[in-house]
Amino acid sequence: MDIIFYHPSFNAEKWITGLQQRLPQARVRAWTPDDRAHADYALVRQPPVAMLQGRRELKGVFALGAGVDDILGQLREHPQMLAEGVPLFRLEDTGMGRQMQEYAVWHVLGWFRRFNDYRQQKSQALWQPLRNLSREDFTIGILGAGVLGRSVAESLRFWGFPVRCWSRSPKTLPDVASFHGQAQLGAFLSGTKVLINLLPNTPQTVGILNRALLSQLQPEACLINLARGAHLVEEDLLAALAAGEIKAAALDVFAREPLAQDHPFWTHPDIAITPHNAAVTLPGEAMDYIAEAIRQREAGEMPAGQVDLSRGY
Ligand code: NAP
Ligand code: GLV
Repeated sequence: MDIIFYHPSFNAEKWITGLQQRLPQARVRAWTPDDRAHADYALVRQPPVAMLQGRRELKGVFALGAGVDDILGQLREHPQMLAEGVPLFRLEDTGMGRQMQEYAVWHVLGWFRRFNDYRQQKSQALWQPLRNLSREDFTIGILGAGVLGRSVAESLRFWGFPVRCWSRSPKTLPDVASFHGQAQLGAFLSGTKVLINLLPNTPQTVGILNRALLSQLQPEACLINLARGAHLVEEDLLAALAAGEIKAAALDVFAREPLAQDHPFWTHPDIAITPHNAAVTLPGEAMDYIAEAIRQREAGEMPAGQVDLSRGY
């Protein structure tokens, strides 16, 4: 069995060794632009079109992340990139759920306990207890109720917050109110105090975090964008913050990454920034997951995590 590997920044040697250990019968190699030799599987992130094009023999392409917008974007421009019938898989959780939980819980508790306000008071040596916020008025709304959205919902339920989610199809989740489709988006937003975005980047969701949407949230709402920069209309967030509609935001992803040195987000007192690492691909977990998926595929089964190309996630 032959496996080709391409990632613009991961240590290919480490991955090849790790995969080889997990799949001793496989020959794993780093793909190079002149490589047209046989391959059964491809492991990729932002793959050059030439890596996959014309490879009818592939039994599976594995994206080395949860989001597949990079590959699907290329596929829209180069429809021949993936031969018909070759399944594309993505990472489901592989340790990202817990990382997203940590990120969301840290910010939600920080806003709920008003730690940001106290940080400002500290800078003025101001001893002034602020009004406690009530959990009942602190509803968390999660855009996306997939693998990561559900994980984040569970962690915030643990802390006793009312949680609701919005997805394409209805969900039945313990103690989480489910809203779905465009028709229920307004009702979902109107009760939300902290909005957490965990949608995939698709033609239907691009630009969804815009002024019209932000203005439907509870007064002085907070925003956490953990999904993709393409979801947020950045100037609309600045306007909503200036108008007091949004109190604070925590952003992990941006329209252009890395964020430009002179971007106004850097100096905004109510925006927290992380460099697109809310949930990173953990090599050990990801290799275990992919090796098991390849074993299933070799046994004639269809592993979890297959991307629906027409749906875009
Ligand atoms: P997922 O399991 O595919 O879940 C996607 C959710 O979004 C599903 O609940 C889906 O609804 C919903 N959805 C999709 N299109 C929709 C639409 N048009 N309207 C309403 N709901 C819609 O994805 P995931 O594994 O949770 O990952 C979510 C995203 O997180 C990834 O796509 C990636 O962009 C991002 N991510 C970011 C980082 C980071 O470090 N910042 C790390 C990993 C992932 P249905 O359930 O009804 O299908
Ligand atoms: C990271 O952003 C991922 O999609 O895995």
